[in-house]
Amino acid sequence: MLTCSKDHRETCRAAAGGSLLLFIISTFVLSCRACSNGNCQFLDSCSTPTDCGPGLYCGNCPASGKTEPTCTRGQAIQPTSFIPGLPFNKYSWLVTHNSFSIVDAPPLPGVQRMTFYNQEDSVSNQLRNGVRGLMLDMYDFEDDVWLCHSMRGQCYNFTAFEPAINTLKEVEAFLSENPSEIVTIIIEDYVHTPKALTRLFTNAGLLEYWFPVSKMPKKGEDWPTITDMVAENHRLLVFTSDASKEADEGIAYQWKYILENEPGDPGFVQGSCSNRKESQPLNSRSASLFLQNYFPTFPVESESCKENSATLIGMVGTCYKAAGNVMPNFVAINFYMRSDGGGVFDALDRMNGLTLCGCSTVTACQVGAPKGSCKETAATNRTPTARTGSSFSGYVQLSSSTSPNHFLNLLILNLFCLSLMAFLSL
Ligand SMILES: *[C@@H]1O[C@H](CO)[C@@H](O)[C@H](O)[C@H]1NC(C)=O
Repeated sequence: MLTCSKDHRETCRAAAGGSLLLFIISTFVLSCRACSNGNCQFLDSCSTPTDCGPGLYCGNCPASGKTEPTCTRGQAIQPTSFIPGLPFNKYSWLVTHNSFSIVDAPPLPGVQRMTFYNQEDSVSNQLRNGVRGLMLDMYDFEDDVWLCHSMRGQCYNFTAFEPAINTLKEVEAFLSENPSEIVTIIIEDYVHTPKALTRLFTNAGLLEYWFPVSKMPKKGEDWPTITDMVAENHRLLVFTSDASKEADEGIAYQWKYILENEPGDPGFVQGSCSNRKESQPLNSRSASLFLQNYFPTFPVESESCKENSATLIGMVGTCYKAAGNVMPNFVAINFYMRSDGGGVFDALDRMNGLTLCGCSTVTACQVGAPKGSCKETAATNRTPTARTGSSFSGYVQLSSSTSPNHFLNLLILNLFCLSLMAFLSL
């Protein structure tokens, strides 16, 4: 352990003889890092990506003054693993806004991309982490359908991401590997080529999961149950913003089935939740699905951890009231993994807990028990994925989870520990 040079033989002999010294060193090392190697629990201090337990990553949130990194949630609990078999519209699901607009996505060859980003990991990884709704902007581009940001309905090579088929094949792989999961795709649709979307979904192998428009409730009735949807393999719901596509191609017109508040900055004003103009009023009972948008018009990565925390939960309450005590079925956000601790994952646990069993979190729900009869759960759900039926293989490390501030703190902490060790081993 200690290498002994001639000059330091005396010191070394002393050190070697002193198991007490080793004990002291290890005590200090341990007190510098109370937990590590995947043992750190929700909100424990952490210092390296591998410190935190399953479903958690090591992150901080300087935007809300939380500079010390702690174990932060990065995966959703599927409500169906606690209360299975209800109609689809009884559950609340996590949706990524502009799921395709991913930091680090390679630009087109020879083009400098100039646009904004909304997420940080691949769509496959989003799905593995429990995301169940994808918002995708689709355009005619390069004789194909592309995922793109735009100006006035036009995709440019400097705002383009990739052909939509790539992402849809990721969805196909997920549905095929996870035969009881249901995914919703909401298309902001700028595709004008007739049947281009039909071809796209066919080529992606997604027709076999298609939930037919004819079976969608038209007057605000309940949706089929999760059990029936899975049994019939109707596990992909697709909605378009283009009304004509419902008659032409059998793709559901979004606002016939979904109530929705205003997206972007208007949907970000605390205490107010009003419908976007295409949607029926939120308290109308004409549609049985309800989508809550909660993201600013211009996404700022470093601010999103603050946005996705307490104010998100507050706005869920505001929208719930605005809808006449109806819980949003979808919560759409940017940088979904970022928060100051529990983030959108906690929000969804609360939402599902309230609607499914009248408990403060879905983890307290018990199958067959009357409403309000809640199971004891750890004070704050500590390792959310450490139970059966809800563990995913998703990767929770963010591409750029650590701010310079975080690194500085780590450096100081590590220097402190190192100097202690150096001092003690002299
Ligand atoms: C990108 O599009 C512009 C026109 O919008 C064009 O002039 C330019 O050559 C394109 N660049 C590449 C690399 O295709």
